[in-house]
Amino acid sequence: MQKRIRKAVFPVAGLGTRFLPATKSVPKEMMTVVDRPVLQHVVDEAREAGIEHFIFVTGRGKAVIEDHFDMAFELEATLKARGKEKEYAALMADLPPAGATSFTRQQAPLGLGHAVWCARELIGDEPFAVLLPDMITMASGARKERCLGQCIEAYNTHGGNIIAVEEVRMEETHQYGVVATGADHGHSFEITGMVEKPAKGTAPSNLIISGRYILEPEIFNILEHVEKGAGGEIQLTDGMKILAQTQSFHGVRFDGQTYDTGSKIGFLSANIAFALQRADLAPQLKIEIAKLLK
Ligand code: G1P
Repeated sequence: MQKRIRKAVFPVAGLGTRFLPATKSVPKEMMTVVDRPVLQHVVDEAREAGIEHFIFVTGRGKAVIEDHFDMAFELEATLKARGKEKEYAALMADLPPAGATSFTRQQAPLGLGHAVWCARELIGDEPFAVLLPDMITMASGARKERCLGQCIEAYNTHGGNIIAVEEVRMEETHQYGVVATGADHGHSFEITGMVEKPAKGTAPSNLIISGRYILEPEIFNILEHVEKGAGGEIQLTDGMKILAQTQSFHGVRFDGQTYDTGSKIGFLSANIAFALQRADLAPQLKIEIAKLLK
């Protein structure tokens, strides 16, 4: 019987330089996919997967993230006074329960490994999830769980550490962390190696680390000492590589769709894809897209 995954870390300190000028004064995580901030989509995925405590590793200029996950008294009172019950109920449904969020700051942009390490006191001694907010996922076909739900399912089978992966074209692997595969169980497989941002032509596979992890708490002691890696940053992948010497790592091929909203094409595609899932928007949007493509 595995421990329950109750807590999730959201590293949201990044500067969002790929989206300037949009992200000059608005955190990139607050840019909207349809009418929800990117980060809200990711928190939705975590809640659906049973996460109960949401830990945000923020930085300067990110205070609106804290406001977003709090009550907005004047707004809520005004909605009620104006009889906008539906809008009010929707806000309440999204609101995490009191005490279910924590915020800590990464004081300097030292890398993803360092950001996760900043959450060590808030996690304590239990396995936990990490969700990179650039990546938003959509369930597809027969499976209703999004990516983190599928990772937790694999964790319940294998225990240890779990990394969600996705196939990309071999020419794109140098932009990501990449895993090497061992024994294959179909949806999940044993991970036998990892490398962060492999030089072109050297990746061990075309399976990239796609932004959802289940990690055992032993990662924290490792991250404290891991040396700077790719890009001069403390890399989570380098920490996981060390942990893999003593603990198991399994990969999960996410059955569904992932959008990298940190890239412009990924962001635009996510907006179209999520809007096309909405009964109130899809019919008209299809007409507009057809007009634009003509
Ligand atoms: C990070 C991780 C990398 C992963 C990627 C997914 O890289 O270090 O392993 O493949 O996210 O988006 P970054 O995007 O911060 O360069």
